[in-house]
Amino acid sequence: IEYIDTSCTFRYRWNTDKQVLVLKFTDLDGYGIGMLSWFAVHAVSMNSTNRMVSSDNIGHASYLLEQDKNRGQLPGQGSFVAGFSSSNLGDVSPNTRGPVCLNTGQPCDYLNSSCPVGGTQMCKAFGPGEDMFDSTRVIGHNVYRKAKELYAKAVEEVTGPLQAAHQWVNMTDVTVQINDTHTVSTCKPALGHSFAAGTTDGGGELNFTQGAVEGDPFWDGIRDALLGQPSNQTQECHHPKPILISTGEMNWPLPWHPQIVDVQIITIGNVAIVAVPGEMTTMSGRRLREAVKQELESEGAFRDTEVVVAGLSNVYTHYITTYEEYQVQRYEGASTIYGPHTLSAYLHRYRGLARAIAQNRVSELPLGPQPPFFRKNLFNLLPAPTVDRKPENSSFGDVLEQVYPVYRQGDVVSVTFVAGNPRNSGDIRDKTLVTVEIYDNRTDTWKIVHTDASWETRFHWLKGSNQRSNSTIEWHVPLSAPSGSYRIKHYGHYKNRTGWQTFITPYEGTSDVFRVSASFYHQ
Ligand SMILES: *[C@@H]1O[C@H](CO)[C@@H](O)[C@H](O)[C@H]1NC(C)=O
Ligand SMILES: *[C@@H]1O[C@H](CO)[C@@H](O)[C@H](O)[C@H]1NC(C)=O
Ligand SMILES: *[C@@H]1O[C@H](CO)[C@@H](O)[C@H](O)[C@H]1NC(C)=O
Ligand SMILES: *[C@@H]1O[C@H](CO)[C@@H](O)[C@H](O)[C@H]1NC(C)=O
Ligand SMILES: *[C@@H]1O[C@H](CO)[C@@H](O)[C@H](O)[C@H]1NC(C)=O
Ligand SMILES: *[C@@H]1O[C@H](CO)[C@@H](O)[C@H](O)[C@H]1NC(C)=O
Ligand SMILES: *[C@@H]1O[C@H](CO)[C@@H](O)[C@H](O)[C@H]1NC(C)=O
Ligand SMILES: *[C@@H]1O[C@H](CO)[C@@H](O)[C@H](O)[C@H]1NC(C)=O
Ligand SMILES: *[C@@H]1O[C@H](CO)[C@@H](O)[C@H](O)[C@H]1NC(C)=O
Ligand SMILES: *[C@@H]1O[C@H](CO)[C@@H](O)[C@H](O)[C@H]1NC(C)=O
Repeated sequence: IEYIDTSCTFRYRWNTDKQVLVLKFTDLDGYGIGMLSWFAVHAVSMNSTNRMVSSDNIGHASYLLEQDKNRGQLPGQGSFVAGFSSSNLGDVSPNTRGPVCLNTGQPCDYLNSSCPVGGTQMCKAFGPGEDMFDSTRVIGHNVYRKAKELYAKAVEEVTGPLQAAHQWVNMTDVTVQINDTHTVSTCKPALGHSFAAGTTDGGGELNFTQGAVEGDPFWDGIRDALLGQPSNQTQECHHPKPILISTGEMNWPLPWHPQIVDVQIITIGNVAIVAVPGEMTTMSGRRLREAVKQELESEGAFRDTEVVVAGLSNVYTHYITTYEEYQVQRYEGASTIYGPHTLSAYLHRYRGLARAIAQNRVSELPLGPQPPFFRKNLFNLLPAPTVDRKPENSSFGDVLEQVYPVYRQGDVVSVTFVAGNPRNSGDIRDKTLVTVEIYDNRTDTWKIVHTDASWETRFHWLKGSNQRSNSTIEWHVPLSAPSGSYRIKHYGHYKNRTGWQTFITPYEGTSDVFRVSASFYHQ
């Protein structure tokens, strides 16, 4: 949705950024080898009920463009790389039908995103598609289409040096002079009450409401009993945020939030990529871009600089709102963990990096305090999978529910196998649990047309009783699928035990051969 800014200044035409930036990479012969693009939208068309390992809307855009450029190749196999990055997406939802109360169809309360009956949980944003898969497809396809168009007509050649500036910053105590008389400081990290309210893309489970600038004695009591009271200093520093979790004061078993974060700028000719360790809101991003542009151009070394915010880079620190947005304490403000002056601190730091680049003095920048390295303290609460069992007289990979003999384009083919726990397959990067294969009658061979990375396939693993499980594979046959003979294969591993020893054994299963035909219609 596009809201027109009706304020009197009209400094910005839209309440969110509409810009798509594409950097096209070619080899020395001018042949395209890849691209990077930025567009500010939350990659959350899929909601919390999705249990599949899949790309979301922006990953789908990347998938579509790579499939387009790597014709005839399976996902992830071609040489062309299409990178779609996040930007200042902090307050930008892809759910374009907007938030409504599920019980009445009326818009939710504008300020606290809740409904008269049912509160926060009744208020949800959907769209533009019929369900989350469709919405993922629509948003992904739109972003893909625009990026493809810009890639095709890219004309402005980027020339000039490549430069990079990086620093570590202890964000818990950055002091910034905001005018002649006042300095402000950041705070130890803390999350506010409205953090627990969630957003209209996915509300919290409890009775928190966005826009809370006062605590709730009930939850504060629970917090104090379980986690301890936030210090007075931290409470004052974060005002008007009522602190729910004083993460900066919680260090067991490891610090709950980072103190040391990365700030970084990379320039390629006159394109400046500003790597930000969190989710900036639209206005935070606009102010940052403007500040960086001003510093880069101050020395005359840069002109017509294109500045882009590369959001969620390096370390993750939740959201970054403006000071004004912070006062309202919606989800994003409550999740601005270093307090009301977080953005001022970042503007100050990124200006410093930009000035160093502009003055060609990057080597003089102090590195900043090294972040701690936690790898050896990490632990995992997920127990190892149990042994896998199967129905008597069957083998892993046997078909429990067979395909039909004939389908047509647009149908969904489904087949269920006796399965092992997919976690027993270990690291399956670059491997697949699923293939869809077409028979080539000239060479008498099967050719893989889809894997589990394909948008067209879905892999459901269902755990039953007695440590038995099964895998159902769906193939959503595209309208472009050629007529022919097909089969679906499933690859997995099962775990068994002989005495004290456990074994992991690979298995595979194959469906019956079925036909896909344009002319066949189901009864
Ligand atoms: C949200 O704000 C409205 C007033 O705009 C108020 O009537 C309602 O009680 C508030 N809801 C919650 C859960 O705080
Ligand atoms: C998730 O999206 C599905 C539609 O795909 C919808 O039925 C469901 O209510 C949504 N769930 C949540 C928690 O938003
Ligand atoms: C960050 O700064 C605070 C306040 O000066 C200090 O107490 C803390 O130890 C610093 N953190 C790290 C990881 O150096
Ligand atoms: C400096 O900033 C403070 C805090 O925003 C404000 O109260 C004060 O009026 C400002 N002073 C000047 C001279 O702008
Ligand atoms: C949330 O629920 C608790 C327990 O039922 C109650 O004491 C508290 O007042 C509620 N808070 C709000 C803001 O409704
Ligand atoms: C925190 O502030 C409260 C209220 O002003 C005061 O009663 C309390 O003693 C303070 N706690 C500490 C540790 O200073
Ligand atoms: C398993 O196969 C054996 C031998 O064919 C047969 O005697 C037995 O009844 C079968 N068990 C089940 C549960 O089908
Ligand atoms: C291969 O299949 C096509 C289309 O079904 C058919 O026309 C052709 O005769 C077949 N060729 C062989 C060698 O079987
Ligand atoms: C697959 O497993 C689930 C969970 O145990 C069960 O409900 C379902 O009936 C099984 N499907 C088949 C085809 O056996
Ligand atoms: C477990 O698997 C191993 C390796 O595949 C096999 O040698 C062994 O017989 C199996 N044990 C049982 C109890 O099925």
